[in-house]
Amino acid sequence: MEKLYEGKAKIVYSYEEPDKVVIHFKDETTAFNAQKRDLLEGKGILNNRISSIIFELLNRNGIPTHFIRQLSDREMLAYHTRIIPVEVVVRNLATGSIMKRLGIPERTEFNPSLIEFYLKNDALGDPIICYEHVIAMNLATDEDIREIKEISLKVNSLLRNFLKDKGISLIDFKLEFGKTSSGKIMVADEISPDTCRFWDLKTEERMDKDRFRLDLGDTTKFYKEVLKRIEG
Ligand code: TMP
Repeated sequence: MEKLYEGKAKIVYSYEEPDKVVIHFKDETTAFNAQKRDLLEGKGILNNRISSIIFELLNRNGIPTHFIRQLSDREMLAYHTRIIPVEVVVRNLATGSIMKRLGIPERTEFNPSLIEFYLKNDALGDPIICYEHVIAMNLATDEDIREIKEISLKVNSLLRNFLKDKGISLIDFKLEFGKTSSGKIMVADEISPDTCRFWDLKTEERMDKDRFRLDLGDTTKFYKEVLKRIEG
C-alpha cells in the first residue's frame, strides 16, 4: 500500500481498488494546532472503533459517508474522496472557541443548532469563515454547501438521539466532507471523541478530547467509556 497522505492523527493509504483507501488511526494526539502533543496509547484503536460504529449508524440511516467497513483494530476501508477544505462545526450548546470569540456564556443553547465553517489550513490555524468566503475562494459550490448543511443537520439529529439513549449529550462536533471522482458528496474523515464534544448527560463529565486539551486527565479511560456505552 502506498502512503497517500499523513495527517496529525491518521494516515491514508492506497488500496487495490483505486476508488477506495485504507485509513490508519494513530495514537498521536494534538491540540491547539499541534502546539500541544502527546502519544495516548490505544487511542487510535478506540477512535477507529467509535468512528466505525457512528459511520455504520449514518450509513444505515441513508446519510452518505465514505465508510465501507472496519478492516482491523486500527484500519478502516473508505471511499477515495477529494476532501473539501472546509471544516463544518455544528453546535448545540456553547463551549470551546465560541465562548472566547463571541463572549457567549457556556451552556447557552443554540436552537436551531448552529453551523459554522472553518478553513482547513493548519498554516493559518483553521480560521473561521462564512459562506461568502467559501464561494469567493472556490472551496465549494452553492449547491455543495446546501447539501453539506442538510447532511450536517441530519447527522446532528441522528447522533444526538442515538447518544442521548446512551447517557451522552452531544455538545458540538466537526465534520469534513469529501467528493468522489463522480462528484458525490459524502461525510469523510472521522467522527470520534477527537472531533466531537461528548458530556455525560447527568454529571456533565467531559468524555472527549477536552480531557487532553484542558489537562483533565484519563483521556483514553473516557474514550473507552464512550465506546462501551455506544456498543451496548
Ligand atoms: P471549538 O469549540 O474549539 O471550535 O471546537 C468545535 C468542535 O470541533 C469540537 O467538537 C471539537 C472539534 N474540533 C476538531 O475536530 N478539530 C479541531 O481542530 C478543532 C479546533 C475543533
